Amino acid sequence: MPVSSSTEAPRLAVLISGAGSNMVAIARACEAGSIPARICVVISDVAQAGGVARARELGLATEVVDRGLFRRDGVADRAAFEAALAAALDASGADYIILAGFLRVLSAAFVQRYTGRMLNIHPSLLPRHKGLDTHARAIAAGDAEHGVSVHFVTAELDGGPLIAQSVVPVLDGDTVASLSARVHAREHVLYPTVIQWLANGRLRWNDGEPTLDGKALTLPVKLA
Ligand code: GRF
Repeated sequence: MPVSSSTEAPRLAVLISGAGSNMVAIARACEAGSIPARICVVISDVAQAGGVARARELGLATEVVDRGLFRRDGVADRAAFEAALAAALDASGADYIILAGFLRVLSAAFVQRYTGRMLNIHPSLLPRHKGLDTHARAIAAGDAEHGVSVHFVTAELDGGPLIAQSVVPVLDGDTVASLSARVHAREHVLYPTVIQWLANGRLRWNDGEPTLDGKALTLPVKLA
């Protein structure tokens, strides 16, 4: 998949599994012109994901690659699922793959196919709290701060080079619901900002040592 020519807006494929609130924030930023790119497809691995309906309401092309349908001898067939996902991505002509609440661990082979062109958003201050249930774990650990990270995707789960983070306080009496709502609000600003950097060429993968405006991202940018 070649990156679109410089005269064309980059094409984004947004991958979701759930409500799709980050996808909506990204779509609105593209529509408003603050992200100089366009969403060429929203792909869900869950047919009933609320985000699929929301994407359709926004007039976006949608596809479902239903992970539940890819089974062999009663067990999940990840290779077949990923082949179908790659086919859908390639057919869309996407330049960048934006994981936005896509709850599927991708194989190293799949990730390598899109090296430097795939981003993820994770609801914690990575490297703290990789994986699931991050809000509950932050509360249980007594963390004073929590937040959200955007990173390039590599074969290491939630371990690719960090680009930017937004920090929120953990307040006395916080529940998973109250803390996740505070983090979610930051996600809807942070992710469009990073995608804007990618689309306008300020953010570069640089063979695994990403740069922003030509400077090495040795530490993630902290945004409010
Ligand atoms: C977000 O919390 C994101 O950080 C995580 O999955 C959630 C997706 O939320 N990866 P939504 O579907 O975008 O509302």
